[in-house]
Amino acid sequence: MLFSQEIIQWYHQNKRDLPWRNTTDPYIIWLSEIILQQTRVEQGLPYFNRFVAAYPTVRDFAEAAEGEILRLWQGLGYYSRARNMHKAAQTIMQQYDGIFPKEYNSLIKLPGIGEYTAAAIASFSSNEPKAVLDGNVFRVLARYFGISEAINTGKGKKLFSKIAEEMLDKANASVYNQAIMEFGALQCKPQSPNCAVCPISIGCYALRENKVNFLPVKIKG
Ligand code: ADE
Repeated sequence: MLFSQEIIQWYHQNKRDLPWRNTTDPYIIWLSEIILQQTRVEQGLPYFNRFVAAYPTVRDFAEAAEGEILRLWQGLGYYSRARNMHKAAQTIMQQYDGIFPKEYNSLIKLPGIGEYTAAAIASFSSNEPKAVLDGNVFRVLARYFGISEAINTGKGKKLFSKIAEEMLDKANASVYNQAIMEFGALQCKPQSPNCAVCPISIGCYALRENKVNFLPVKIKG
């Protein structure tokens, strides 16, 4: 079976039930993705629920007092995330008439939305075929394909990005992107992955060459 189809099949059998996966509302997906940027799922979940309850729409978020948003954000750190969200919400009210954009090329222009977040929102909300590239995806691709180029250099990012786009199931970008991130988080974990139960162990370079603990490569900064 194709790499992408193995990953998707694994996902259907092993995924966690997470609330932002049951929506295609780009605003709700945006809330979840910004909260989860430097935050673990278990820590981010209660914040996500509080934000959705306090601000059900991007208009509610845009019209909120910044101090109130920062107060709800307390404990998550990296407060620039919350300030950029407020700016982005106000931009969406002004430039998009309060309709949260779903297209990658619009999303990437908003404050606080980089390549990963734009690809995540575009694919999860409208199945736009853009591959996500986060720490989980870097790890799965580096190990499976034996890519020893560092993940934190310009050259490395370009190479991984090309391979990520090639592997993407373009007709099923939403589920594939969720699947490969979940696969990295739960199966192809940083420490002690259980390769004995991995559905793609047969083709895995790192397992074959005993490099699981040496990939991906990151250059010290
Ligand atoms: N971390 C960042 N985005 C995520 C998502 N959509 N699902 C699970 N974990 C995530």
